[in-house]
Amino acid sequence: MAEDPDVVAEVSEKGGVGKTSLTTGLIAVAAEYGLRVAGVDLDPRATLTDELGVSNPKKSVNDIYFVDPEKRPRDPAEIAREALTRAGKHWPSNAWVLPAVRKFGNRETDGTTGMEFRLKRALWGLRDLVDVVFIDAPPRPGGKIVGSALIASTKVLMPSTLTKDGYLGVREAMGTIEHYTVPGGLNDSLTIAGIVRSIVPTGKKYTKVQKLWNGRLQERFGSLVLPSILHDYAVREACRTGSMPITAAPGREAKLLVSGYREILNHTLPDLKEKL
Ligand SMILES: Nc1ncnc2c1ncn2[C@@H]1O[C@H](COP(=O)(O)OP(=O)(O)O)[C@@H](O)[C@H]1O
Ligand SMILES: [Mg+2]
Repeated sequence: MAEDPDVVAEVSEKGGVGKTSLTTGLIAVAAEYGLRVAGVDLDPRATLTDELGVSNPKKSVNDIYFVDPEKRPRDPAEIAREALTRAGKHWPSNAWVLPAVRKFGNRETDGTTGMEFRLKRALWGLRDLVDVVFIDAPPRPGGKIVGSALIASTKVLMPSTLTKDGYLGVREAMGTIEHYTVPGGLNDSLTIAGIVRSIVPTGKKYTKVQKLWNGRLQERFGSLVLPSILHDYAVREACRTGSMPITAAPGREAKLLVSGYREILNHTLPDLKEKL
């Protein structure tokens, strides 16, 4: 019997800390293993969607969350199957996305009953189509959309830059996550896979301030800080610009990032290859 997909959320309550980059990197390496992978874009800026080479999708996460009060609500599981879109031409054919659109930004303030549970049900609808799901969460402190991601996930990864924002983004996200994972909470089987230090400068560009925030992260979160570090390499931006997976990019820096993403994936989902 097929197992349910693993669902990994990339969460921080700050923007610009590497959430989308980590999500695309993990999708690229999981797809390279030959697994059926889906990215879920919960950020109305649609950066993940764009990087996965999808534009103007017919159906999006907005259709999964939106309930028209005039009509009978549709099952999110069914909508998810319609919204699942194959990633663009540079991506392997086993990479998919539940795309975001700008108007998804309106959902955060909706009064729709049970909206926080719709993503979990949506992903249940994809259980025979995908092996692993990565959710790119928006940087909204304690919002309903982040809540829906925490309810739908099995694991959380928290990227952090070595900056005050990086640190605060993780600290605040930890606080939010605890509300869900307390015994009897809305998702008490959710586990934190770790904190990923991201966009970390090398050589002389690694400053005292960066060192300070690295120390603070380690002091406060201890072994939750994963050993793999994602360095600041220009090839990352080239991938974003070209809507291309890092696994297809040439050069040493791309290789280093790919090995970082692989280590993080293997740590987060050690049994993943058994799904092949
Ligand atoms: N390892 C990296 N090296 C260089 N630039 C990076 C790296 N990771 C992310 N970036 C860049 O930093 C910016 C913020 O990253 P992003 O993943 O979009 O963060 P978030 O999703 O948290 O807002 C983007 O322009 C992205 O391309
Ligand atoms: Mg992002």
